[in-house]
This record gives sequence, C-alpha cells and structure tokens, in this order.
Amino acid sequence: MTTTQPRHDMYSAIHKGIRYAHCQQLMHLSNFDIDDDVARDALIASMRRHMVLCHGHLHHENEHIHTALEARSPGASEVAEEGHVEHEQSFAEIENLIEALAKAPKSERAAAARALYRRFALFMAHDFEHMNEEETILQTALQYAFTDAELMEIEHRIVTSIPAEEVPLSVVPMLCAMHPSDRRATLSGMKQGMPPEAFGGVMEGMVRPHVSDREWAQLSDLRG
Ligand SMILES: [Fe+2]
Ligand SMILES: [Fe+2]
Repeated sequence: MTTTQPRHDMYSAIHKGIRYAHCQQLMHLSNFDIDDDVARDALIASMRRHMVLCHGHLHHENEHIHTALEARSPGASEVAEEGHVEHEQSFAEIENLIEALAKAPKSERAAAARALYRRFALFMAHDFEHMNEEETILQTALQYAFTDAELMEIEHRIVTSIPAEEVPLSVVPMLCAMHPSDRRATLSGMKQGMPPEAFGGVMEGMVRPHVSDREWAQLSDLRG
C-alpha cells in the first residue's frame, strides 16, 4: 500500500491566524467603553494595527504568490485577485470609519462605533469566503504549478520581506490560533532557523503571554 505525502500548505497557518485576529478585533469593537477616551484610543490603535496585518497579507499574496502563479499558469490567480480588489475598497472604507470614530464628539461616538463595527464585520464575512477560496481553488493551482520546494521558497521570500516591527502582527495570532501540538512543532522549526537570542525573544514576548502555565512548562525544553 502506498501512502501519499500531504503537499505543502501555503495558507493554513496564516489564515487561521487572520481568522483568530479578525474575531478578536470584532469582539474588541463590539464591547469597548465608548464613554472612555483611553478605551476609544486603544481601540483605534488596535484597529489600525490589525489593518496593517490585513494590508500586508494582501500585498504579500499579490507580490509573491499571484505574480509567480501567473507566470506559470496565466489566469489562475484571477479569482483571488477579484477578492483583493474588493478588499482594497473595504480597507479604504474602514480607514475612513476609523478616522470618523477618532474625530466623533462623545454624542456621536456610539453611531460612529456601530458603523465601523458593521463595516468591519462585513469585510470579515467576505474575507472568510475569500480565504476559503484561496485554501481550495488557489492552493490546488499552486500545488499543480509548483513543487513543494518551490512553494517553500515563495513562502520564505514572504517571511523574510516582513519588516521586523510588523512580525508580531502575524506571528502572535498565528501561534495563538494553533493547537498546542502544532504550536510546539512550529516553535521547534522556528528555533532551528533563528539565533538563540531572537528565539528567546519570541518565546518570552510572543508565546509566554498567550499560553497557560501548564503549556509553558511543557515548552521548557525548547527554552533551554
Ligand atoms: Fe487573499
Ligand atoms: Fe490570504
């Protein structure tokens, strides 16, 4: 009996992370204290950070994945490209609504917050469908057009193109969204490819605040 090795998956980890971050952001939008300026400012700052993640993800896919796929299979990235055009419109509208909330007097803050909440939820709904298309239709096209080594090379180009200050925006939700066994495997891989001090920084800054004491103890061998 022959067993088939699963092909390299370009999307699963980052899309799980984005879904996780979308849901966290929607919850934050839905229940922040609209009467408190500090809470409003914190919400706006977190919303802007989240949109940097969303922009960055779309940009990486356009520049590194769609360009490469189009060169091998013209037209294959069309379905995802259409979704990206719609996303760019959403980003512009969401930014306008963030700005409106930032400037709204207290008497208009509830209405401004509600408008942003609803528009962001609509974008999330579209993005959930879009990511599913990428994980099925586009993933199949990529796996047909490229070897796993080539897919890993594309992924490596994406990872190394992310500015250091933006790395936590994607890595933290990606790690948070994983089952503990997947988190351990991912961290083991990261440890092999990073200088010890940098990996120590990831463990202390991006893992420790988000895992239970029990899981942290179980990861002690990676920290040694
Ligand atoms: Fe996309
Ligand atoms: Fe995507």
